[in-house]
Amino acid sequence: MQQVNLGIIGGGTVGSGVFHALQRNGDLMASRIGIKVHLRKVAVKAFDEPRPYPIPESYLTTDWQSVVNDPKVDIVAELAGGTGIARTMVLTALKLGKPVVTANKALLSAHGEELFSAAQKHKTNLYYEASVAGGIPIIKSLREGFVGNRITQLYGIVNGTCNYILTRMKLEGADFAGVLADAQKQGYAETSPDLDIDGWDSQHKIGILASLAHGFWMNPKHIHVEGIRHISALDMKFASDLGYTIKLLGIVKRIEESKDKPARKSQIANRKSQIQVSVYPTLIPHAHVLASVNDVFNAVFVRGDVVGDTLFYGRGAGKDATASAVLSDFADAALDLKFGTKHRVPAFVPHERDGAVLPMDEVTSRYFVRLTVVDRPGTLARIAAIFGKANIGISSVIQPEGHEGESVPLIFMIHDAPNAAMRKALAKIGKLPVVKAKPVMIRVESFE
Ligand code: NDP
Ligand code: HSE
Repeated sequence: MQQVNLGIIGGGTVGSGVFHALQRNGDLMASRIGIKVHLRKVAVKAFDEPRPYPIPESYLTTDWQSVVNDPKVDIVAELAGGTGIARTMVLTALKLGKPVVTANKALLSAHGEELFSAAQKHKTNLYYEASVAGGIPIIKSLREGFVGNRITQLYGIVNGTCNYILTRMKLEGADFAGVLADAQKQGYAETSPDLDIDGWDSQHKIGILASLAHGFWMNPKHIHVEGIRHISALDMKFASDLGYTIKLLGIVKRIEESKDKPARKSQIANRKSQIQVSVYPTLIPHAHVLASVNDVFNAVFVRGDVVGDTLFYGRGAGKDATASAVLSDFADAALDLKFGTKHRVPAFVPHERDGAVLPMDEVTSRYFVRLTVVDRPGTLARIAAIFGKANIGISSVIQPEGHEGESVPLIFMIHDAPNAAMRKALAKIGKLPVVKAKPVMIRVESFE
C-alpha cells in the first residue's frame, strides 16, 4: 500500500483529537482510500502541557519548522491557531508545494485570499473542512455537492460555544459566566472566548461559507457582527412566550430586486449581486428546524435553486467532531497527491467579479424590541409616535401588568423595516426620559 507522511503543528484539543482518531481509524481510512496516512511528527509549544488525549513524547517536537521542512513530510496540518505565526506556518508549507490542512477559520478569514492564491501558485492545495461547523462536511457539500446550484439562502448556527450557552440559559436558566466556563472545560471555546461570545468566530465561518456560496472572497470588515453578551433571561422568556427561540445565526442571503425595493443605480451600473452576510442573535420560530438545534450542535440550512432546501446537523466543536473533519481532509490530500487535483473541484476559486455585501443599514428585517419604561400615561404614545414618524410599523405590543409609576418591560414586535431606520428610531426612543435602560433590539427571521 502507498503511504503519505503527515506532520502536524498543534497537539491541543484538535491536534490530540486528530492523533487519537488516526490511532483509532487510520487503518480503516487506509483500507478505504488505498493510501496509508502515516504520522511522523507533532509540533507543540511545550512537551509537558496537559492534552485531552496523550501524545507519546516520541512524536513531539517544539520546532514547527523542522516538521514543515522535513523532506519526508508530504502533508502539513496547521492545528495551532491564531493569525500570526499560523500564517507563516501555512505559507512556508505551501511554498514548498506541500498540501496544508487547517482548522483555522480566523486565519482563513484574515488571509484566505493570500493563502489560496499561494496554494494555486505553488501548485498545491489548502484543505479546510474543519474550519466551519466542526464535524459537519459543509465545505465539501458547498464546494462539490452544490456545484450545480446557485445558493439563494444559507443560515448557520456555526458557533458551538454560543449555542451551548444559549441552550443552557434557556433550558436551565443557567448563568452566562458559569456556562461559558463549562464550554471552556469541554474544549469548545477559542483560546480567547471573546471570539465566540462576541460573534467573531461565527463571522469568520460565515464569511468562508458565503465566499464559497457566492464566488468572491468576503472581506470580514463588510460582515455585520453582533454577539450574545447582551441577551438576557428576560429576552429569552418573552421571545419564548411569543413563539420564538433565540439563536446566534449567520445569514447569507441573495437579495432579489423587487418592485418595492429596486436596486440602487450604482448596483445596476456595476451589475453587482446584493448579498446579505451577517451574524447576530435572531428570533427563530419554535416550529423552524433550526430552533431545536441545541447544546454544542451546529446546523447549516442551505437553499439552492436546483436542490431546494437542505439541512446539515452535527457537533460543531470539540476534539472528536473536529478530528473527523481533519481526517477527511487528510484523505482528500492523500488522494490528490496520488492522482493530482485536476479532476476535483478546486478548494476556492473566485468566479464572481462583481459581488458585493449589502451594507447592513440597507438590510430589512423584522424586530423584537424590549424597552424598560416607566409605566405612566403617555409612555406608549410617545414611543409609538417615534416609530410612526420613521414609517416603522408595530405588529404587536406586550406590557406585563405593573404598578403605575414603576419601571416595567415593554415589548414590541416590529414589521419589516430597514436597519438604518430602526437604529435611528431606537436612538431617539432611548433618549426619552420615560425609557430607563438602553433598548434591546433582536432581529426576527421568517425564513421566507
Ligand atoms: P489548543 O490551544 O487546544 O491547541 C493549540 C496547539 O497548538 C497546542 O498543542 C499548542 O502547543 C500548539 N502551538 C501553539 N503555538 C505553537 C507554536 N508556535 N509551535 C508549535 N506548536 C504550537 O487549540 P485548539 O486545538 O482548540 O484549536 C486549534 C485550531 O483549531 C484553532 O485554529 C481553532 O480555532 C481551531 N478549531 C478548534 C475547534 C475546537 O473545538 N477546539 C474546532 C474547530 C476548529 P501546547 O500544547 O504545547 O500548548
Ligand atoms: N470555538 C468554536 C465553537 C470551535 O465554539 O464553535 C469550533 O470551531
